[in-house]
Amino acid sequence: MKRYESVALTLTEEIEGGIYKPGERLPGVRKLAALFTVSVSTVVEALKIVEDQGLLDVAERSGHFVAYPTHRLNTPVQKEGAGTYKAVLKPYPVTQSEWVMNLVRATLASDVVQLGAAVPHSDFLAVKGVNKALKAVCAHTQDHSDHYDFAPGYEPLRGQIALRMQDVHCKVQQAEVVITNGCQNALVLALKAVTQPGDVVAIESPTFYGLLHVIESLGLQALEIPTDPISGISLSALSLAFEQWDVKACVLIPNYGNPLGHCMSDIDKRQLVTLAKKAKVQLIEDDIYGDLGLSNQRSLPLLSFGPDVIYCSSFSKTLSPGLRVGWVISGQHQERIEYLQYVNSLSAPTLAQRAVYEYLRYQSYDRYLREVRSRYRQQLHKVRSLIYTSFPEGTKVSEPAGGFVLWVECPATVSTLTLYEDALAKNISIAPGPMFSPRKKYQRCFRVNCAQPWGARFQWALVTLGGLVERQLAP
Ligand SMILES: Cc1ncc(COP(=O)(O)O)c(C=O)c1O
Repeated sequence: MKRYESVALTLTEEIEGGIYKPGERLPGVRKLAALFTVSVSTVVEALKIVEDQGLLDVAERSGHFVAYPTHRLNTPVQKEGAGTYKAVLKPYPVTQSEWVMNLVRATLASDVVQLGAAVPHSDFLAVKGVNKALKAVCAHTQDHSDHYDFAPGYEPLRGQIALRMQDVHCKVQQAEVVITNGCQNALVLALKAVTQPGDVVAIESPTFYGLLHVIESLGLQALEIPTDPISGISLSALSLAFEQWDVKACVLIPNYGNPLGHCMSDIDKRQLVTLAKKAKVQLIEDDIYGDLGLSNQRSLPLLSFGPDVIYCSSFSKTLSPGLRVGWVISGQHQERIEYLQYVNSLSAPTLAQRAVYEYLRYQSYDRYLREVRSRYRQQLHKVRSLIYTSFPEGTKVSEPAGGFVLWVECPATVSTLTLYEDALAKNISIAPGPMFSPRKKYQRCFRVNCAQPWGARFQWALVTLGGLVERQLAP
């Protein structure tokens, strides 16, 4: 082991062992050099490694601070005290585009085991019902493809969506629903409507990488807010961020966030809405996993706690990602969003909108949801158990409240970028941790898509990944 690696290891152990506490400043570089009897450049190299593991945050001109444990897995909820994040949060431009296309291409290869992208295998989607709906639309409707359904979109579908939103305590009328090309498009439209290039947007950390690409493409700056794998975004950190920076918007996934699977409590949601209103920050809620909670109680959207929230969602995780049908509810921003929708893509697809309407109107979406939630409960349990038996000691796995992905934290020195390369060579695709952070943190974490048939191939892939991690730890 090189000298700087050994210093990095010692610092890692000291941080993990609690010798340096979250929020605490490490001794300066010179002091550390003296303590370890190494050169300053050795300390600088070592600190880079520890920072890459997500254990340190660097505050310009202030030094290195122990990061708050954003991936606190398998431990009880603790609330951090306010006042501790002041020095460590800073917005950063996002440079993520190099990653995503590799992952996207891997999803097109049929010989690759798809543990990377969060796309359910067709076994878990309402494929049969959607096919039936598509057939019915083609058989009964003459006018489904000879025109644009300009924004706000197909009226009967908007009516069905409004009814579902009312079921989860959101006071939404049909006229307020704008159909989009999926949830990603809804997020783009929402952010475009409320920001200008250069603006600061607060996000959960780690967060869905698709959002990072949107932020990158719009020239915005991302401010990563520590996020607990159980209770969600840290409200104390967010409150300080609002004080310290001119934050224009905060985009978050309060129900079953991707990749952590956390779910905010109603109390925290209410507090968040109040906090954002006071700070004049636009909340943008991505509720794409909202219907996929593992308990039978549907967790309420942020929108049900305040009408100023912009709400984005889609049917991509339940009915079909390929239909590209999502929606946005945006209150006072609706007119601008409809215009942006027109500029971006003229309209959402006509045939797909009718098929989703047909499905919602004449088939039992709720029965499908009940069944798939129960399958995800079992599936997540099986995958977690297999990871615990196949991965080296010290590996931790999230316990999501919903959705179908797991977040895995490997022992400290593991690089999931290396794991990503090694796994792809064996035709296994994973989503490495740094994809989920603008600063490419979470070097030792990765996300697993569990919505795959529980067959020999899937199990082989998980066991193989465990072996590859083991290999990295071998002396
Ligand atoms: C949290 C989250 N938001 C949005 C999207 C994109 O959704 P859509 O396919 O509807 O555009 C995804 C897809 O992975 C997601 O996980």
